[in-house]
Amino acid sequence: MKNTKIVEVLKTDPVLQEISVQGWVRAFRSNRFIALNDGSTINNIQAVVDFENTPQEILDEINIGAALHITGTLKESEGKGQKVEIAAKEITILGKANSDDVKKTILSPKRHSLEKLREQAHLRVRTNTFGAIMRVRAKLSFAVHQYFNENGFYYVNTPIITGSDAEGAGEMFRVTNFDLNNPAKDENGKVNFKEDFFGKETNLTVSGQLEAETYAMGLGQVYTFGPTFRAENSNTSRHLAEFWMIEPEVAFCDLDGNMDLAEDFIKYVLNYVLTHCDDDLAFLENRLIQEDKAKPEKDRAPMPLREKLKFITENNFKRVSYTEAIEILKNSKPNKKKKFDYLIEEWGADLQSEHERYLVEKHFKCPVILFDYPAQIKAFYMRLNEDGKTVRAMDVLFPGIGEMVGGSQREERLEVLQEKMKEFNIDEEELWWYLDTRRFGSCVHSGFGLGFERLVLFATGMSNIRDVIPFPRTPQNAEF
Ligand code: 4AD
Ligand code: MG
Repeated sequence: MKNTKIVEVLKTDPVLQEISVQGWVRAFRSNRFIALNDGSTINNIQAVVDFENTPQEILDEINIGAALHITGTLKESEGKGQKVEIAAKEITILGKANSDDVKKTILSPKRHSLEKLREQAHLRVRTNTFGAIMRVRAKLSFAVHQYFNENGFYYVNTPIITGSDAEGAGEMFRVTNFDLNNPAKDENGKVNFKEDFFGKETNLTVSGQLEAETYAMGLGQVYTFGPTFRAENSNTSRHLAEFWMIEPEVAFCDLDGNMDLAEDFIKYVLNYVLTHCDDDLAFLENRLIQEDKAKPEKDRAPMPLREKLKFITENNFKRVSYTEAIEILKNSKPNKKKKFDYLIEEWGADLQSEHERYLVEKHFKCPVILFDYPAQIKAFYMRLNEDGKTVRAMDVLFPGIGEMVGGSQREERLEVLQEKMKEFNIDEEELWWYLDTRRFGSCVHSGFGLGFERLVLFATGMSNIRDVIPFPRTPQNAEF
């Protein structure tokens, strides 16, 4: 008999029919009731064991974590909380799980902290919380491709190993082809760790933007969606050393078009999970409500998760220039102390996350797109405004997250770009190919980068970025 996914079984009308399922035991109560999950849904199917006719050696192996194959009759459930259940006729143990060993892991049936779960990242996907998060993540990622495909964008794969530092921030992991058996030596016979990618210095990409720009100049509208790496030793709940970034790049598009694209895109993907992940979002929402009960009123989420997502998809983001934002911040009393930890004294200062969060969470109470930043705090490739001191940059700031998106209209004028590179000490020879885009048919163009994990954080309501990527790479989580 063909096996049915549990998500389908749960939707089936319980006319008496034979059915078979496979999955992992989540619970086994009273030697009779198995809660089985196969990952297709947050919900388990209950299988009722006919223990008189089930051999003892099978009963002994129905442990939490074991993989089972169950054949039986699907019928209306007498128990509360489920419509259907399976009266098991035949149970096969596909993979055992020793109950004493299970007790030492996070599979054991008690509440484990998220920190504890992180230590066993290879098992945590078998918990309800991580099953839900990872299904939402997968759906979001599908929605990303669907959005761009529906809107005439081409998916391009930009290099992971690259010679360029797109952001000019120097936060790169170097790549070496260090051969243990035959290491390169310097003149003193010491091992030379600098021997790099076939003689060229390379690093893991921090952003696919510059390469994506070259493709936008031929295909018109492109996007990348791939892993990016930042060697920042920051231990925050918003930073990873390896994260996934979505980077659209559009020819003949200015900053206003770029802001429209970012807003439309984010609303689309959030709406997609609202309509395709209701069970998982309901679970995550309830989890947050329980968590909030232990918190003081002021720290609780202002809205339940799904309501929050709906609010975002139905309301306009607020667009504010950097200069306006600075005025607001200078005149604000953010907390009891009535001041920020880092005071904004003058125009030109970079905003800290406390300022960004104040603007979205307290002042505007909605996502904010800040634009026209001072040139000196932004990257070299951004389009200089006519005022000569601001650039056509934009950051999309989200409540509870801070910066979700960073992007800009790009400097399309060759001479201005060359001048800027000189100022930023960027060697023209390093980026000769990038400058070619400005030599041959240059045009107004724009793009942005959205940190995928920050989007998943927002969509799931989780609070630590390590909990929305299967295997977090941070200074503390380097195994796997
Ligand atoms: O603002 P960033 O550094 O912008 C760029 O890299 C541009 N080249 C993008 C472009 O215009 N194509 O990074 C973009 C986004 C940030 O807004 C943030 O969401 C995310 O990437 N991000 C990180 N996410 C997790 N961990 C980190 N260490 C991150 N650094 C940036
Ligand atoms: Mg940024």
